[in-house]
Amino acid sequence: MLVLFLLLGITTSTPSPAAADGGAVPVVNPFSYFCNSTAVRRTYLPNSTFAANLASLAAALPMNASISGGGFSAGVFGSPPDAAYGLVLCRGDYGGPACASCLESRFRDADSFCPYSSDVTVYHDQCQLRFSDRDFLAGAGAGGSNLPESVAWNMNNVSGRNAAAFDDLVVRLVGAVADAAGNAKGRYATGQAGFARERTNVYALAQCTPDLTPAQCRACLAGLIAQVPTWLKGRVGGRILGVRCDVRYENDLFFARTSDMVTLTPLVDTSKGQSPSS
Ligand SMILES: *[C@@H]1O[C@H](CO)[C@@H](O)[C@H](O)[C@H]1NC(C)=O
Ligand SMILES: *[C@@H]1O[C@H](CO)[C@@H](O)[C@H](O)[C@H]1NC(C)=O
Ligand SMILES: *[C@@H]1O[C@H](CO)[C@@H](O)[C@H](O)[C@H]1NC(C)=O
Ligand SMILES: *[C@@H]1O[C@H](CO)[C@@H](O)[C@H](O)[C@H]1NC(C)=O
Repeated sequence: MLVLFLLLGITTSTPSPAAADGGAVPVVNPFSYFCNSTAVRRTYLPNSTFAANLASLAAALPMNASISGGGFSAGVFGSPPDAAYGLVLCRGDYGGPACASCLESRFRDADSFCPYSSDVTVYHDQCQLRFSDRDFLAGAGAGGSNLPESVAWNMNNVSGRNAAAFDDLVVRLVGAVADAAGNAKGRYATGQAGFARERTNVYALAQCTPDLTPAQCRACLAGLIAQVPTWLKGRVGGRILGVRCDVRYENDLFFARTSDMVTLTPLVDTSKGQSPSS
């Protein structure tokens, strides 16, 4: 099941428009979406009760997330079989009105890319959402609720002789950042490490929905980190995203720097010489 979703993630994903992604592919927005059309695609009618519930959800969640939710909101409008369940999450450094407007755009993306689908997930650089006619909010820590997951990578590779050491550094950094995210109140943390052999730095982010306990968050992230060697071997950047938790690393700074960043190894001065991404 998991692998199937991951493969779908790849086919529906393209590298993000971030500068770190090499520029070799077209810029696509949103970065990744799922209409849940693989099994049985469930659709709703324009004038249905579900459509009205979904409209209420799409109005409430971005507001709640940006005003009181710290970038997160989850809830339900209506009751089965017409209930609309939803969850939204903004990246930890992306709050306030920018968060609300990012999420509003993602609800519009859902309309454009998955018209009348009653189960949609959209991932974007700064925010993400899922809504469904089924209750995917129950059992947040149980493990199944991170689906659908999405994987994407930077097209550039670390040179062969350094790849194993770089991959090892990435897994250690992402693991340390995941530990910090689990313990942080907002369940969001970032980190950095220098990789002197290639005169490059690596920056990483880990985030969970803040309603997860520290242990649930760490377990969700561990599930993603375990897949890093499978999908991101030798890549200078990559991400594995889920509805409940996300990890990402790049060789450019892609989030707001803060004083509490995890620093694993001293940063190197990338201003001299070639960085592998250039
Ligand atoms: C939806 O309802 C409006 C107002 O009742 C009606 O004019 C319209 O034709 C309906 N659309 C569909 C697709 O049923
Ligand atoms: C939005 O936030 C308000 C106030 O915190 C809360 O009462 C309400 O249940 C929230 N609604 C949703 C859909 O999250
Ligand atoms: C699609 O919906 C089914 C329920 O009908 C659910 O089990 C499955 O996880 C969903 N898949 C995705 C990719 O959202
Ligand atoms: C990176 O490595 C992958 C897998 O070996 C390869 O398919 C890809 O072409 C490489 N990318 C570049 C930019 O050389």
